[in-house]
Amino acid sequence: MPSVRAVAPAKINLSLRVRALRPDGYHEITTVFHAVSLTDEVTVSAAASGSGRSVGMTGERAASVPTGDDNLAAKAAVALAHHAGLTDADVTIDIAKSIPVAAGMAGGSADAAATLVAVRRLWGLDVTDAELADVAAQLGSDVPFSLMGGTARGIGRGEVLTPVLAHGDLHWVVALSDTELSTPAVYAEWDRLLAAGVVHAAGDAADADAPLLAALRQGDPSEVAAHLVNDLEPAAVALRPHLRGVLDTGVELGALAGMVSGSGPTCVFLADGREAAIALAAEMSGTGLVRGVRHAVGPAPGARVVA
Ligand code: C5P
Repeated sequence: MPSVRAVAPAKINLSLRVRALRPDGYHEITTVFHAVSLTDEVTVSAAASGSGRSVGMTGERAASVPTGDDNLAAKAAVALAHHAGLTDADVTIDIAKSIPVAAGMAGGSADAAATLVAVRRLWGLDVTDAELADVAAQLGSDVPFSLMGGTARGIGRGEVLTPVLAHGDLHWVVALSDTELSTPAVYAEWDRLLAAGVVHAAGDAADADAPLLAALRQGDPSEVAAHLVNDLEPAAVALRPHLRGVLDTGVELGALAGMVSGSGPTCVFLADGREAAIALAAEMSGTGLVRGVRHAVGPAPGARVVA
């Protein structure tokens, strides 16, 4: 059976500012996405007519991800078939996970994005990148960025993207947690903290991220570190209080800065170059505070077919 393999990156949010809760249940955000070199690999293979989707999953914690039609990769195949006017979407999807699951790094979105580019090729569809981005936005707020990769500003619920000019590589230490967090639960906690006056909604100043964007243009990790911000961090830490200790320890061990990634519970630490990241990763893993560590480099390319 013919098959196509694709990869897609994990993301971190260099800036994530939460504004208002919208009537549709999403929060208006302004964010700066940054794709990093942790990737999931998705192989799609032609399946017999009428057989539907089957999803196979390997890799750490793969068992906790649904493998039916409620898997986001299966939804991606169905959505693209529908968009292209195909009457069925029979496909076998094999996912090799390296991106931590339910961890704030958009692993499910990466699987959906990789599936979109892979089935477009498998089925020989005449679908443009812009159309693919539209289908991606229907699947989830982070899926369009998984397609795009690099570094980009996001507005709306995160799906309206503009690429950002960034010089050089940023070296990250990714500290994996032995717990999971669901994105809706973390946003709900943020709503609770807002009502209690503990956090405040971001204003609509368009230039709040101007210093971060300037630091990215310069390619100076220390300047980037000084301007990292994640409004969801207090909510993630409220739900998983041990994260405070993880963040403090990373900085004590020499990180330029540490933050919760997206809705967490993964914590990411920016290091002053490759050697510093490798040293910090070794020290972090020795603390016993984290399930594991990864060294990741950004920006990384978006979802792409590799074979
Ligand atoms: O778009 P996605 O399906 O990934 O979002 C999952 C959930 O996360 C939403 O149903 C919503 O509860 C929350 N969310 C939000 N605001 C955003 C993105 C996600 O409240 N901008």
